[in-house]
Amino acid sequence: MQKLETKKKDIVNFFLKKGMLVSQDILEHLEDKKNLAEVHKLVETNYAKDISVLNKKIKYLFEQIVKDELENTNEKKTPDSESNVKVVYSYNGTAKKREANDFIQYFNNRFRTLQQILKQRPELHNRLSINRLANKKDREQISVIGMVRDKQQTKNGNYMLTIEDNTGSIRIIITKNKPKLFKIAQDIVLDEVIGITGANGDNIIFVNNISFPDIPLDREVKKAKEESYALFLSDIHVGSKNFLKEDFNRFLKWINCDLGNEEQRQIASRVKYIFVLGDLVDGCGIYPNQEKELEIKDIKEQYEECANLLSKIPSDIKLIICPGNHDAMRVAEPQLPIYRDFAESLYNLPNATMVSNPSIINIHSSAGFSGFDVLLYHGYSFDFYVSEVASIRNNGGYDRADLIMKFLLQKRNLAPSHTSTLYVPDTELDNLAITMVPDFFVSGHIHKAAAANYRNVTLISGSCWQSKTTFQEKVGHNPEPSRVPIVNLQTRHVKMLKLGN
Ligand SMILES: [Fe+2]
Ligand SMILES: [Fe+2]
Repeated sequence: MQKLETKKKDIVNFFLKKGMLVSQDILEHLEDKKNLAEVHKLVETNYAKDISVLNKKIKYLFEQIVKDELENTNEKKTPDSESNVKVVYSYNGTAKKREANDFIQYFNNRFRTLQQILKQRPELHNRLSINRLANKKDREQISVIGMVRDKQQTKNGNYMLTIEDNTGSIRIIITKNKPKLFKIAQDIVLDEVIGITGANGDNIIFVNNISFPDIPLDREVKKAKEESYALFLSDIHVGSKNFLKEDFNRFLKWINCDLGNEEQRQIASRVKYIFVLGDLVDGCGIYPNQEKELEIKDIKEQYEECANLLSKIPSDIKLIICPGNHDAMRVAEPQLPIYRDFAESLYNLPNATMVSNPSIINIHSSAGFSGFDVLLYHGYSFDFYVSEVASIRNNGGYDRADLIMKFLLQKRNLAPSHTSTLYVPDTELDNLAITMVPDFFVSGHIHKAAAANYRNVTLISGSCWQSKTTFQEKVGHNPEPSRVPIVNLQTRHVKMLKLGN
């Protein structure tokens, strides 16, 4: 036993020297010498430099990248001008019966991963586990990391939160007399993991600093060697009476260089990647009385029409397609790629790659360029954060997908609050965790395009190809259809092409 423990410690220290924390879930696997050698080889690659925590998901991602890399060098060197799509992560788990215990394990895993990230913050180096706080003196400065279990506003207007780790829970107070901190606390949501420092009280902490897992500040801005473009479509909603056929046809004309001014046609000729970020069709039975708003009432026919439209895109442009909540796939995330049984026609498109929601795709790699990592997420959880997070709600709400995406990057999770989306509690991997920092984080669902930059990650939300439905009218959505965000991969600048009113 003694020997084993020492060995574990050695492994942890070995990776620590490389600036990497080893997560519990992979430690046993690494005790096998052969596995250790393999993983060591993986972390020596260039891809490892953005990784701060080594867990099973990261190991899986590494393996995929290195495998692709090997295949590439074995086959042929990809010329710079060729488009290149590699699936880094796409969920293909098989359904199994989930039990209450799975949720507990899922949340324990999530806590541990985010705790590992937070532990590296200088302000949290002396953190204590919650059960050790009792030994501390009154007023002593302390720090802890915990998952937010409860959030209340006291009658004096201060915030009182309960946070917990695997040793216990503690109440923390954020007073309104510290306006900067108070504003930060206003945006805290349930189940997120935070680090705090503050003064010890009687079973309570008076907070003076809050840390979030967040993404690093110093990510390099990767740029392609030559001018080429990627664009983002989402929420086409084929089959809906509100589908904007004419606008979409204008898009098809433009992408075939038959529409637009000289510069716009020039751009069209250099588009190499089109991401389709979910809600390709309107679906059937998605909301009450939907059939009254459908022009095509059969799901297969909806996909056939959608594939028919997408087939008009020049076939040398690569299509990357993930599902949304209107597609033929369970709503619980991660969503597998759209069901082949319903969407055979999409699978028959020679240039289409069908992936899960969320997924990570690497595009445009070539000899000497590692390509761009794109995190795709349809955005089903976004509705929750628009209504729950004050700084998003008060600064444009549904009009500001970029604020939501920034918020989620800070929390390092696509759905930090348990109730913000439906999900499958995979006990092996947290499929909604943002473990790997992407170059692009792209989404849809909001029906309004947005583009921004956060710590050198380009955030893009697609618009939609459906006019306002009665359902959207009711829930207060304000769609802005027929816009196409286009990113120049050489400069990373985003242009918004307008193809409708
Ligand atoms: Fe949609
Ligand atoms: Fe959606």
